[in-house]
Amino acid sequence: MKLTPKRYLVTSALPYANGPVHIGHLAGVYIPADIYSRYLRLRGREVIFIGGSDEHGVPITIKARQQGCTPQQVVDKFHEMIKKSFEDFGISFDVYSRTSSKIHHKTAADFFKKLYDEGKFTEKTSEQYYDEEAGQFLADRYIVGGCPHCGNEKAYGDQCEKCGSTLSPTELINPHSAISGSKPVMRETSHWYLPLDKYEAWLKQWILEEHKEWKPNVYGQCKSWLDNGLQPRAVSRDLDWGVQVPVEGAKGKALYVWFDAPIGYISNTIELLPDDWEKYWKSEDTKMVHFIGKDNIVFHCIMFPCMLKAHGGYVLPDNVPANEFLNLENDKISTTRGWAVWLHEYLEDFPGKQDVLRYVLCANAPETKDNNFTWRDFQDRNNSELVAIFGNFVNRAVVLTQKYFAGKMPQPGALADIDKAALAEIGEAKRKVEDNLDSFRFREALREAMNLARTGNKYLADTEPWKVIKTDEARVKTILNVALQLSASLAVIMEPFMPFTSQKLRGILNIDSATLQWEPLGSDTLLPVGHQLGEPALLFDKIEDDAITAQLQKLEKMKEKNGEQAYRAEPQKELCSFDDFQKMDVRIVKILEAERVPKSKKLIKMLVDAGIDKRTVLSGVADSFDPQALVGRQVAMLINLAPRSIMGVESQGMILYAESADGKLLLVQPAGEVQNGVKVS
Ligand code: MF3
Ligand code: ZN
Repeated sequence: MKLTPKRYLVTSALPYANGPVHIGHLAGVYIPADIYSRYLRLRGREVIFIGGSDEHGVPITIKARQQGCTPQQVVDKFHEMIKKSFEDFGISFDVYSRTSSKIHHKTAADFFKKLYDEGKFTEKTSEQYYDEEAGQFLADRYIVGGCPHCGNEKAYGDQCEKCGSTLSPTELINPHSAISGSKPVMRETSHWYLPLDKYEAWLKQWILEEHKEWKPNVYGQCKSWLDNGLQPRAVSRDLDWGVQVPVEGAKGKALYVWFDAPIGYISNTIELLPDDWEKYWKSEDTKMVHFIGKDNIVFHCIMFPCMLKAHGGYVLPDNVPANEFLNLENDKISTTRGWAVWLHEYLEDFPGKQDVLRYVLCANAPETKDNNFTWRDFQDRNNSELVAIFGNFVNRAVVLTQKYFAGKMPQPGALADIDKAALAEIGEAKRKVEDNLDSFRFREALREAMNLARTGNKYLADTEPWKVIKTDEARVKTILNVALQLSASLAVIMEPFMPFTSQKLRGILNIDSATLQWEPLGSDTLLPVGHQLGEPALLFDKIEDDAITAQLQKLEKMKEKNGEQAYRAEPQKELCSFDDFQKMDVRIVKILEAERVPKSKKLIKMLVDAGIDKRTVLSGVADSFDPQALVGRQVAMLINLAPRSIMGVESQGMILYAESADGKLLLVQPAGEVQNGVKVS
């Protein structure tokens, strides 16, 4: 692909401000978007890189309810946190704003109003769940009930988080409102719809014919949506959080979050360039590129383009290089299960190692298929690639120059073939990195950039200046000149991928930002003879096993917390005879009274109805049960256990409990009500 457009408008999905960001976000969206933007800037293109928080939608209102605060408080907290994580990782947004801003509300409302006034929407009445007690319509997420597939009693109206099935609220067993707990009723409501079906022919032409170059995963998803036929899509919701529908009589209705959020790209551009934003959004020579994850494809390739088309005057995306998902240690990243590496926590554990994560996530990016992040791979790539190749090469070049030539760029003599070959790799690397980045192949681009470091490392190993110095100083001057040229090129070529390292390297080489230019790579000398280098320093350091083990343990704890650890059942006891078994008299009894035994930490004293009599029994279960919760329960009990006296109380039998893996006790109860004293055998 040729780089002809005048200017680039690079957007990255606006993350929901209802939680912090994790490595999956970074790998799928923000690292590629940042690499691309930095690369374009280096090449001297006119580019703006837009980011921001997505602060509307139902999950944010649910979070607020859970935390006993307002949705605004939720988004205020996470917007700041997310923004800081992005800054910390060098994501070089030109603007990072938010959809709760005034300017966004106005932009989104105006956008809707224009389409509304021009009759671009259809209005339709439908029946939806309504909570009479709370006096509001219920989003699918707000309806809770039994999952018809796995029996989870807390499945949501749109999804069961236990078994992962997609649900509709009508499938739930015994649905009730998550707000009031009451049984919701059906009530009529009316909403505005964008008739996507009317844009189908246009979309087919625009995507399937004119954008065959889109990534196969993106093109394929679009094709399948278009082949299945598009339906009108509601663009409003009954919700009091969001951009209010700017139409009379629409009180209590907000724009659907997927209608307002992409308009956030426009609002944030207006915030950045109040007078100049239109040259990005409204002129044909802008190339707009949306960086997103695969769950966002339909919104960015179908819905938003239809909105822009309906509005008119706006550019459409030139490409939507969506990525697949990143897994963590062979398991889906899940915020509800806490199975993630959070960016802020990473930086606490690995301060200053932003680029190591950037490197590993790019080298391993889920570009064409879902991919896996493991801490071992992270350690390996750091130790055997960043430290052993890139860091080692640069360090040797600089340290030797300090040692032999007082840190001054030496004058080269005539170049040998090996020198010419090494220098030729700079231009090669430049060309290959360009080819790959222009086609959104970030992993491959990074591999090519890294190959230049490999070339340098091998060059020094082959030329052995530390040996040659004993016999031929002039030759060493040439070798180190070449090695330093390669090092300086690496400072430029690595900048999009590892900006912190590039900066550090520029410090070590004592070169200023004027040297940071793409085009001269491979043709001009970046470091003139006599140039004084800066102080040597290590670009990377080794990550030890301890640090990795600690991360793995942290994840293991998460699994334990979620009750997911592999439970190792106890080995079987020695065999007993049928007669032994027959001796035991196990019955269902009802607990009539229960109280803690004074001065005992664990004991609960109970009065039970055993059918044949009422008797007292003790259990050491105060850790697991509140006595009151036991009263009225039918449970299994061994009634002919010889009586024992504990703390002055005689216990006539033993109630049976199941012990869960984490040591918590559970009652063993009959599946239905039975007479007290029936036997269990
Ligand atoms: N908040 C959405 C998500 O995290 C992405 C919104 S992208 C935008 O999936 F275009 F709508 F802003
Ligand atoms: Zn389920």
